[in-house]
Amino acid sequence: MPDLLRIEGLKTYFEGPGGPVRVLDGLDLAVAQGQILGLVGESGSGKSVTALSVMRLIRPPGRIVGGRILFDGTDLLQLSEVGMRAFRGRRMGMIFQDPRGYLNPVMRVGMVMAEVFRTHAGVGRREAKERSLEMLRRVGLPAPERVLRAYPHELSGGMAQRVMIALALAGEPRLLIADEPTTALDVTVQAQIIRLLADLRRDLDLTVILITHNLSVVAEVCDEVAVMYAGQVVELAPAYQVFERSRHPYTVSLLRARPSAVRSRDLAAIPGHIPNLRRPPLGCRFQPRCFMAGPRCAAEVPALRHLEADHLSRCHYAEEVGERSGVA
Ligand SMILES: Nc1ncnc2c1ncn2[C@@H]1O[C@H](COP(=O)(O)OP(=O)(O)O)[C@@H](O)[C@H]1O
Ligand SMILES: [Mg+2]
Repeated sequence: MPDLLRIEGLKTYFEGPGGPVRVLDGLDLAVAQGQILGLVGESGSGKSVTALSVMRLIRPPGRIVGGRILFDGTDLLQLSEVGMRAFRGRRMGMIFQDPRGYLNPVMRVGMVMAEVFRTHAGVGRREAKERSLEMLRRVGLPAPERVLRAYPHELSGGMAQRVMIALALAGEPRLLIADEPTTALDVTVQAQIIRLLADLRRDLDLTVILITHNLSVVAEVCDEVAVMYAGQVVELAPAYQVFERSRHPYTVSLLRARPSAVRSRDLAAIPGHIPNLRRPPLGCRFQPRCFMAGPRCAAEVPALRHLEADHLSRCHYAEEVGERSGVA
C-alpha cells in the first residue's frame, strides 16, 4: 500500500527568550494507507507537537519552519489556511487525551454533533441528526438518543471519548490521529476504546496514528511503530520487529522500563532526562543516556537509515543493538 501520510524533515520550533526551542528537528515519518502506526516515546519527546503540526494547529510562539507533510501527495505546508480546511476535519480527524476538555460544557452533545455534521458533511438539520445517531451507534454507544440530549459532564470518560471519535469521523476522514486517547481512562475502558479504533480502521478503511506511551497498547493493535526521541524518529519498523528485534538503544531502554511503566503508567524509568531542546547534545541526541555510546556518537549525527526495506534506525551501531542489549 502507498503511504497516505509522509513527513519529511519536519521542523517545528517554539520561539523563546533564549532562542528557538527545536521541538521537532528533522522528523521523518510515513504511514501506509490502512495501517495503524503507533507513535511512542517519553513525555516531552514531541509526539503531540507532531500531531498538531500535521493538522496545522501549531499556534505562536510555535511555528513550522521547514520540511514537508505529504498527504496523499499534497504538501499540507504549501496550502493556504482556506485550502487546509478541506483537509482538517475532512480528510483527517483528531482525538485527544481529555475528551471532556474539548466538548463545550454548556452545549448538549446533539448540538455539537449537528454543528460538526452540517459543517463537514454539508447536510441539513434533520440529516445531521440522523447521521449523529448513526455515528454514535457506530462508536458503540447503545442509547444514542440519550447521548444526544446529554451535557458533557453527564457522560463517563469512556462515553465522552466515543463521542469525540464520532465527531472526528463526521467528515469521513481517511486519517485519524489519536493523541493518548486512553490515558485519562481506566484500564477496562482503555481496552474497549483501543478495540473500537481497531474495528473502525477495518470497517471504515481508516489509517490511524495512535500516539501513546503505553507499549501494551502498541503491541496489541499497531502494525507499525515509530519511536520518537527528542524531536526525531529514532526507529521505525513493523511492530513485531520493534519489540523482538529492536535496532535502537532507546527502544531497548523503553522496553526494559516496561514493567515499571505498567505500574506508574509512565516511561520515566530510563536513567537521565530528555535533553534541553534549546541546546541539544552534539552528535546523537540519545548519546548522554545510551548504554552503547562510543566516541563516534558524540561527534557525528546519526542519520535515520534503512537496515532492511521496512526497518529504519537512527543509530551508528544499529546492527549491533540486538547482540549488545540481549533483546534479540
Ligand atoms: N506551546 C508550547 N510552547 C513552548 N514549548 C512547547 C509548547 N508545546 C510543546 N512545547 C514543548 O515541546 C516539547 C514536546 O512537547 P509534546 O509534543 O507535548 O511532547 P509529548 O506529546 O511527546 O509528551 C516539550 O519540551 C514541550 O515543552
Ligand atoms: Mg503529548
